[in-house]
Amino acid sequence: MLRKENSFQIVVFAFFSILALMVRNTATIVLLIACQIIIWIVNHYKQNDALHFAKKKAEIEKVEANVRADDAFDKLVKLINAIPSPLVYINQKGDFEVSNQYFDQLIEIESKDVYDVHIDSPIRQILLDAFLNEKQFVRQFNYKDIDFQVLSIPLVAEGNRYNGCMLIFQDVTRVVEGEKMQKRFIADASHELRTPITSIKGMIEILTREGFDDKETEVEFLGQIKKENNRLDKIVEDLLLQSKLRANQVYLEKTVFNLKQFFDGLVYERRQELHQANIEVVINCASNLEVQADQFRLSQVFLNLFNNAINYAENGKIQINCSTGNHKVTIEFIDDGTGVKPEILPHLFERFYRGQTSRARDSGGSGLGLAISKSIIEAHEGTISVTSKENEGTTFTIELNQE
Ligand SMILES: Nc1ncnc2c1ncn2[C@@H]1O[C@H](COP(=O)(O)OP(=O)(O)OP(=O)(O)O)[C@@H](O)[C@H]1O
Ligand SMILES: [Mg+2]
Repeated sequence: MLRKENSFQIVVFAFFSILALMVRNTATIVLLIACQIIIWIVNHYKQNDALHFAKKKAEIEKVEANVRADDAFDKLVKLINAIPSPLVYINQKGDFEVSNQYFDQLIEIESKDVYDVHIDSPIRQILLDAFLNEKQFVRQFNYKDIDFQVLSIPLVAEGNRYNGCMLIFQDVTRVVEGEKMQKRFIADASHELRTPITSIKGMIEILTREGFDDKETEVEFLGQIKKENNRLDKIVEDLLLQSKLRANQVYLEKTVFNLKQFFDGLVYERRQELHQANIEVVINCASNLEVQADQFRLSQVFLNLFNNAINYAENGKIQINCSTGNHKVTIEFIDDGTGVKPEILPHLFERFYRGQTSRARDSGGSGLGLAISKSIIEAHEGTISVTSKENEGTTFTIELNQE
């Protein structure tokens, strides 16, 4: 290609050649040729310089591009490691090309590819399925007591070529647990409702049978129907209240009230029952201790705790202790009754949970009292917990924020 500098050189050369022919003097011709050579040398070096400069510039640009690529890769690695779920990219050869720390922790061994037989088989099976089937899937599996949901995404390179796959594992233990609880709740609720309904249905069938004429049984059955009906009413109301409390749909009418007066009032209201059950109540609360809470809802909690102590604890004494500290009011409700077996203690606040004792079965309760109590205390942003020792007694502890 004729470059600009070359064409200029040819023009200069032609000009000097014509000049030399016109002058016809040897010394001048030699001088002119020397000038020409010098111009040519200068030009040559100038061209070399330009080439050198272009080469250097390309090199610098390449280094800069590499630095940018390294930077982007570092950011990607940081991002992948920050994702709190095991993640791996398996390339088209089956190698773990990119993985984060959580994936390395999941497989527990230093492994390079999906074929490694040292990877525990449930995980290895999933990795192989994802890699070999080349299909997107979502699958759930349980591994070492953790429920995982794994998403496999096949990657496609140019020309529709399979380029390995990416897998993301998500810990869904809590979701699965929630689903199980929901199913159990529906089953329990249906069972609790079906029992009185079946009983009412049976008695009505007998009462309406042709020729039925037994006054005594009629009176007894009507009394039973009324009782079962009240039970149904209580279950439905408790269920509605509990679901409203859980959905934050219950408006708390908070007032400031004196705790000792509140407990004295409750004991006074239940005096007959407590007397019949031969239960003594001791209140250890400072006479000036006040709390800001919904008095009606809190009384529901304490009534349930009283009823429970009367129905199940078979004890002779209930102690109510109040204390303050750390911007909290702590209320302990202590009975010295039968206590609760350690294996059933964690279930006490579950909906419909009733102890295995026949007393708990016969009490007529639906097993919603403590679940509602917990929701009421949590609606106050407080906590309720229980400790118990068999044959020594049970302590319910409530903590409320002091405003
Ligand atoms: N003080 C206690 N001593 C021993 N067992 C208790 C005590 N309090 C509760 N329990 C056990 O906990 C279970 C759940 O109590 P909860 O108040 O939730 O339901 P319930 O009393 O059976 O029915 P409900 O309160 O809805 O009428 C009871 O069935 C009983 O087995
Ligand atoms: Mg109860």
